[in-house]
Amino acid sequence: MTFDLFDDLPEDSAATPAIEPLADGAVVLRGVARADAEVLLADVQAIVARAPWRHMVTPGGLKMSVAMTNCGACGWVSDARGYRYDAADPLSGQAWPDMPASFRELAASAAAQAGFAGFAPDACLINRYVPGTRLSLHQDRDERDFTAPIVSVSLGLPAVFLFGGMRRADKPQRVRLAHGDVVVWGGPSRLAFHGVAPLADGDHPLLGPLRINLTFRKAR
Ligand code: SIN
Ligand code: FE2
Repeated sequence: MTFDLFDDLPEDSAATPAIEPLADGAVVLRGVARADAEVLLADVQAIVARAPWRHMVTPGGLKMSVAMTNCGACGWVSDARGYRYDAADPLSGQAWPDMPASFRELAASAAAQAGFAGFAPDACLINRYVPGTRLSLHQDRDERDFTAPIVSVSLGLPAVFLFGGMRRADKPQRVRLAHGDVVVWGGPSRLAFHGVAPLADGDHPLLGPLRINLTFRKAR
């Protein structure tokens, strides 16, 4: 007997499973942000008008190649004093822009699809990559508790996401992330090392030569 559950889906969605397991507690949700991308990007523009892109400096004095900003009740910052969450944007002294409804809803729905119901992020770090930009392997560990997952939304140019294990030396998986893909990691994977390989050249129809990543956290 044939089982033709997928017969009414377009071929590409039938060929690519919507939920790809990465590790225990970690999944890639293919394309789930694609339909919202234009709204998300308009919201990014409004955030950047108030809290502009900047290259933060690591505690060791290196300027990060990824340009960043934040929205939400608190934002991730790095400077000579260390990494932390701060309710104010250090450039303006003002609160970070509110987290738009489009961001909150996508983050909660993606987390729920990955098995983390009730995700209510209070921080969204927004990363901007140009070709050549990379993000070295790190853990997201500046949050106060690790019961909530991380939800990471990819927009624009594709990237190679590096998803490692609990030790920096664990060899990372290389996962291609395209426009609209969302990665969720929590539970036993919450402190997994991860990073982004140097971005390849390209020209995306919505973003040109850029990749934008939204990383949602429950920081406090
Ligand atoms: C991050 O780890 O903050 C960003 C990951 C990404 O850009 O995909
Ligand atoms: Fe991270």
